[in-house]
Amino acid sequence: MGNNIKKELKMAEKLNLKKSEELYNEAWNLVPGAVAGIRRPYNFVPGEYPIFFEDGKGGRVTDVDGNEYIDYLCAYGPIIIGYREEEIDNAVIAQIRDKGFCFSLTQKYQNQLVKKLKTLIPSCEMAAFVKTGSDATTTAIRISRGYTGKTKVLRCGYHGWHDWCVEVKGGIPSKLYEDVYEFHYNDLQEVEDLMKEHGNDVACIIVTPVGHPLAHEVEMPKPGFLEGVKALTEKYNCVLIFDEIRSGFRVDMGGAQKYFGVTPDVSVFGKALANGWPIGAVVGKEKIMKMLEKEVFLSSTFFPNSDAQVAALATIDFMERNNALAVIKQKGEAFAKRVIEIIEKSGVPANFSGGPWMPFITFPADEKKLYKELRNEFYTQLIRKKVFLQPYHHGYICYRHTDEDLIYTTDMIADSLEDVRKKYLV
Ligand SMILES: Cc1ncc(COP(=O)(O)O)c(C=O)c1O
Repeated sequence: MGNNIKKELKMAEKLNLKKSEELYNEAWNLVPGAVAGIRRPYNFVPGEYPIFFEDGKGGRVTDVDGNEYIDYLCAYGPIIIGYREEEIDNAVIAQIRDKGFCFSLTQKYQNQLVKKLKTLIPSCEMAAFVKTGSDATTTAIRISRGYTGKTKVLRCGYHGWHDWCVEVKGGIPSKLYEDVYEFHYNDLQEVEDLMKEHGNDVACIIVTPVGHPLAHEVEMPKPGFLEGVKALTEKYNCVLIFDEIRSGFRVDMGGAQKYFGVTPDVSVFGKALANGWPIGAVVGKEKIMKMLEKEVFLSSTFFPNSDAQVAALATIDFMERNNALAVIKQKGEAFAKRVIEIIEKSGVPANFSGGPWMPFITFPADEKKLYKELRNEFYTQLIRKKVFLQPYHHGYICYRHTDEDLIYTTDMIADSLEDVRKKYLV
């Protein structure tokens, strides 16, 4: 399969995207914006990327026109093992067929999953399940406000689409976010200054333990950053929340908190926890989580459904038995090393970030804004060679990416940078 792709794609012609475009045109009259948010063509290279997928398997996806790609977007994070991983999907199918998953009362898998999370995640003494990452971050904020009796929130990173944190403010009364203050990842001084001003009214600081702002390089924590933020929450008696929606079950089975050795009071997980099945988890210290017993409300029709809980149990089991995160890290490290060497040799101003888990090739801004053209050209060439990476969002390595996939990808990164160099830099 890889060889076919190589022969076919080295020609790097524009892809046939006819059916994608037909569906897209049709969708404009059906769905506002045709497709949802970050899936819209302007987040890729319009006219070059597919818009609708047909199916996926392992580390590959196929669009509706039959183009097959090695996919590094991994559904924006949930795919940690691979698409249609039989063991996980079969566990859920069996649950649906033999027991059912949507009931008026709770099934036992809730307890099983919490017991498992307690063995893995340092901050987990108790847990509550929701459906999405946004549900989980919003629950964590509400618990913190309930626990401390304070209102203000310091935040850093993307935490979802809810009123208190979303960037696009349309439709949201300012009173719903005016107590929320944003700081920059790795800028401890900024957090300190904000706490000096607001500390006594701050309920929590929520931060992604790995820095991954949209369209910017991925950052690992500077020595002392996470520890410093934690010390400030202790000083001002507020709750430290790690938003591990992307880093959880990817950087380490115990989250980035385990990897970096800093334990928050509360943390939230989602995406990779169930290899694509929808689940979010809020975990934390018992005394804080117990706010959910009475003072703080959390309930929704679908939150207790067991399909995703069963998927999470099966995903964790698979990953433990196959040492999947160690495999991903090893593959990702080799990939990162090769890409860094390729960029250095290429003569194209580009950066690699994201370490072994979240690979991202970015183009540093220049005064003439040439970087935008370099970026467009690079990602155009790459998608034509059937490597699916996102121009504005880091990618992910999954367990099913083969060594052959990764080598093909680095070859195509080298070729695409050369295309960019020839077109813009000679
Ligand atoms: C760090 C982080 N937190 C929260 C969210 C929101 O999760 P969801 O999209 O599942 O609501 C995301 C989604 O990308 C995320 O990356």
